[in-house]
Amino acid sequence: MCGIVGYVGREDCIALLLKGLERLEYRGYDSAGVAVIEDGGISLRKAKGRLANLQEEIGVNPLKGFTGIGHTRWATHGEPSFINAHPHVDIHGRLAIVHNGIIENYFSLRKSLEQKGIRFASQTDTEVIAQLLGFYYDGDMLTTLYRVLPMLEGSFALGVLDAACPDKLYCTRKGNPLIVGQGETGSFIASDIPAILEYTRDIYFMDDYDIAVLSRDTIRFYDEMGNELRKESTHIDWDMEAAEKDGYAHFMLKEIHQQPKVIQDTLNHYVNMETMEIRRETMPFSPEQAKALTKVTLLGCGTAYHAGLVGKSLLENLAKIRTTADVASEYRYREPLIDKDEAFIVISQSGETADTIAAMRLAKANGNRVVALCNVIGSTIAREADTVMYTLAGPEIAVASTKAYVAQLLLFELIALDTAHQRGYLSDEQMKEALQALARLPEKADAVIQAKEKIQYFASQSSNCKSVFFIGRLLDYYLAMEAALKLKEVSYIHSESYAAGELKHGTIALIEEGTLVVAMATQHKVLGKLISNIEEVRVRGAKVIAVAANPPQMLSESVAILEIPEAPDAMAPLLAIIPMQLFAYYMALQKGCDIDKPRNLAKSVTVE
Ligand code: G6P
Repeated sequence: MCGIVGYVGREDCIALLLKGLERLEYRGYDSAGVAVIEDGGISLRKAKGRLANLQEEIGVNPLKGFTGIGHTRWATHGEPSFINAHPHVDIHGRLAIVHNGIIENYFSLRKSLEQKGIRFASQTDTEVIAQLLGFYYDGDMLTTLYRVLPMLEGSFALGVLDAACPDKLYCTRKGNPLIVGQGETGSFIASDIPAILEYTRDIYFMDDYDIAVLSRDTIRFYDEMGNELRKESTHIDWDMEAAEKDGYAHFMLKEIHQQPKVIQDTLNHYVNMETMEIRRETMPFSPEQAKALTKVTLLGCGTAYHAGLVGKSLLENLAKIRTTADVASEYRYREPLIDKDEAFIVISQSGETADTIAAMRLAKANGNRVVALCNVIGSTIAREADTVMYTLAGPEIAVASTKAYVAQLLLFELIALDTAHQRGYLSDEQMKEALQALARLPEKADAVIQAKEKIQYFASQSSNCKSVFFIGRLLDYYLAMEAALKLKEVSYIHSESYAAGELKHGTIALIEEGTLVVAMATQHKVLGKLISNIEEVRVRGAKVIAVAANPPQMLSESVAILEIPEAPDAMAPLLAIIPMQLFAYYMALQKGCDIDKPRNLAKSVTVE
């Protein structure tokens, strides 16, 4: 979603701001802008569309300043346009702000300001903050912020410039991520680490209602009562290379290729690969807790929710615990009945998804324990959950999640195996065998990726299709959901997923000559049933591709096969999703789509 970057220091900041915004492009946006303090006033440049448009505008109308803020906007209130792009200024042009989040009471605030004679330039909720700060400005931005912030309902991360204080930059947050860091030539703010990682690796994570006042060489933090705070920085040990494309055409392709390593890194962290034993201290449930578990609820959005569905099956089948998985945006509002001893696992790559945060807080407010599977250190979910298990996927830049999903699946494998072991459903011997099978996955995942030409060929054969149906049973059904989501996210091709047994209850009416059906066929227990379902659509004219390991002859003779290496049913999802990610990628590639930044989507969905 929207991105913020800001700087105060010794360098002309335009290049720094533009570079920072570039690093945040992956979050998704539809307009961009910068503001600097120049000759005692605010200078602004904005453009609709891509950052290149803003760069062009600055090329034609240059500006210069040592204190500035920049923003990429993902429209919520008010269409994507030049006028609605941030930064926004007050009517006197004394201050400028950039804002991530949504001000829910903006309408009434705007009305009351209009009654006081303030004329608004844009349709945004953000401009209300700029006008409020301008209206109540008392000569000191810090005290003005203390006056205005309590009026705002909703969520915000804010960067503020005050033309009267050209060597200061202000920022604050509630509900939206914001970080601060001290570089060699000045101080930075940003909504996300990659924007400023080049300048500092020691990052301060702002908490809700903290205010930071930055100047060239110092950063001061204050709490909501105005008391000065001492904050500890967190050292970030991944580097910019991790956020570069490394010669791949797209981040999505790079991230798909990284998956064997991600599986290996995650295993190395959670499993002692020499003794083939889980490192118990890394597991979220102690032996006593594992034995006492009666119910687990898994919550997430999008791809993370799909990982949760796989997790639910694994926990039920292996560890024999009643488990449900739900989308966080539904769960938080449907007044769920929560048992006292119910455990929660929230799943979020970014750790900043608004709905997942709200669902997590609901469980916590009820007194229940929350475990988070998260990829971003220091994110809101990582900080607020009782226990965090990190997915060691490294920064995921492409909007469509691939390697983080696979890492989430792997964590569920480990949690389910460990819990099953603790609860006595797996012997020591079976546990070792399972871990050995997991240890073979990186090599097998690599083999799937090496066969990518075949997947590209299938994609080229399917280039004209208008819709694709993904079917499967049991874990394959949940994989089908993820495969369909990947395809629609990046290629904009209509795709649906169905439990294969459900087809005949309605969907089969849509099958006609040439319809593309992709069957996930990794679950041996129901393979015979799935083959019958494949036949049902095939005889009605569907063109079928099946993803299978060692496909039985009757399958390989009737449909096209994307073969993956053999793995136990419970582990097959980690391999079977890879050809589907590649299929989505190649379909999008031949359609010329903006693969890493699909239209209308955002990487980190910080509004509900
Ligand atoms: C957005 C992204 C999806 C992601 C979902 C949940 O919709 O586009 O790729 O799966 O958010 O994100 P999270 O960061 O919570 O895993």
